[in-house]
Amino acid sequence: MLKNKRILLGVSGGIAIYKSLDLVSRLKKLGCHVDVIMTEHATKFVTPLCFETMARSRVHVDGFSRDNPEGVEHIDLAQHADLFIIAPATANIMAKAAHGIADDLLSTALLATDAPVIYAPAMNTKMLKNPATQENMRILEKRGAHFIAPGAGFLACNVIGEGRMAEPSEIVQHLATFTTQKDLQGINILVTAGGTREAVDPVRFITNRSSGKTGHTIAKRAMQRGAEVTLITATKGMQKIHGIAEISVDSAKEMLEAVEKYFGTTDALIMSAAPSDFRMEEVSSQKIKKQGDQVIWTLVKNPDILKTVTEKKEHQFVVAFAAETENLLENAREKRTAKRADLMVANDVTQQGAGFEGDTNIVTFIDEKEEEAMPLQSKVLVADQILSRVKRGVQEKRSLR
Ligand SMILES: Cc1cc2nc3c(=O)[nH]c(=O)nc-3n(C[C@H](O)[C@H](O)[C@H](O)COP(=O)(O)O)c2cc1C
Repeated sequence: MLKNKRILLGVSGGIAIYKSLDLVSRLKKLGCHVDVIMTEHATKFVTPLCFETMARSRVHVDGFSRDNPEGVEHIDLAQHADLFIIAPATANIMAKAAHGIADDLLSTALLATDAPVIYAPAMNTKMLKNPATQENMRILEKRGAHFIAPGAGFLACNVIGEGRMAEPSEIVQHLATFTTQKDLQGINILVTAGGTREAVDPVRFITNRSSGKTGHTIAKRAMQRGAEVTLITATKGMQKIHGIAEISVDSAKEMLEAVEKYFGTTDALIMSAAPSDFRMEEVSSQKIKKQGDQVIWTLVKNPDILKTVTEKKEHQFVVAFAAETENLLENAREKRTAKRADLMVANDVTQQGAGFEGDTNIVTFIDEKEEEAMPLQSKVLVADQILSRVKRGVQEKRSLR
């Protein structure tokens, strides 16, 4: 998606500059051409040589340099960029941009660009929360700039708080959204992900091998293709995806409640989570002690999320998954009709390259009219194929209303 794109990276003088080197490396690996403009203050933290080596192109600092007599540097750089990302964005560069100050190469290029401008702010919490900084960010946003919100964490000034620059992987994800065709605009998609956790006692739970990768990939691609996405996830520790409303749940019961809450207003439900079929009959309020050589727990059936919600199905296009170890197609076909799903994504988790944890899958799409067996492919490609079917399905359902 970002391949062959020309990314202009503006680097201002903040301590998070070390992350920008990683950002350049990631963009290069994706096949981008990266131009870098550093402010004078940025060069006090890291030398231009570092960025030059990573970007494999000359770093620009001084707008008055006489190295390029054929062009005007700030105009050339600004006009050739497909995307202009400022990372780290200091309070200072945002203040200058908000007020049209053009006193160095970076701030001048910001005035001269037509490319989408994305800021990844990074600073001490007090600087970030200062009304001046907040007002400057609002001004820039009103004029069409985009922000990748800083996260909370341990800051260089030795405090824990908001102001940590977004991780380079998140910035790359965000940049990718600008280059993807927005063919899912106007569609609401509800995605579930991960294996639920059924509590045993305050320190133990029963779960399964679902990593949540498929659900998170679908949610991310849906958002990048312009859909309004709500992700209900039982996966822990996965990086939050900018632009997606994320609801974190533990148990299958909690997941059911969340799905029921959003199902009525969604155009499509993609049920890629692996909710536990069973839960403990009784959850111990105290840690269960190690006693004897054997323990017998009674498990009771959890509500079937898919079946429960599709009983109230109206306009929604529903995608379900069948992860099977035997009789794949028969089981998947049966499940599709029993659970009133429009599309079933069947995969035999015993096949190499298919199923949990990895980045690839081998799936068969089963709908009312046809079955299509796909080869081994990345989960991103599988996500895109599911979403294209969702788009078609939602459009068909809308045309019948
Ligand atoms: C060690 C050090 C760390 C700094 N870190 C930040 C920072 O993370 N964010 C920020 O907005 N300013 C930070 N500053 C202040 C900026 O460097 C200062 O405002 C400077 O004028 C920014 O110039 P520039 O925006 O042209 O690069 C830091 C300063 C120093 C000395």
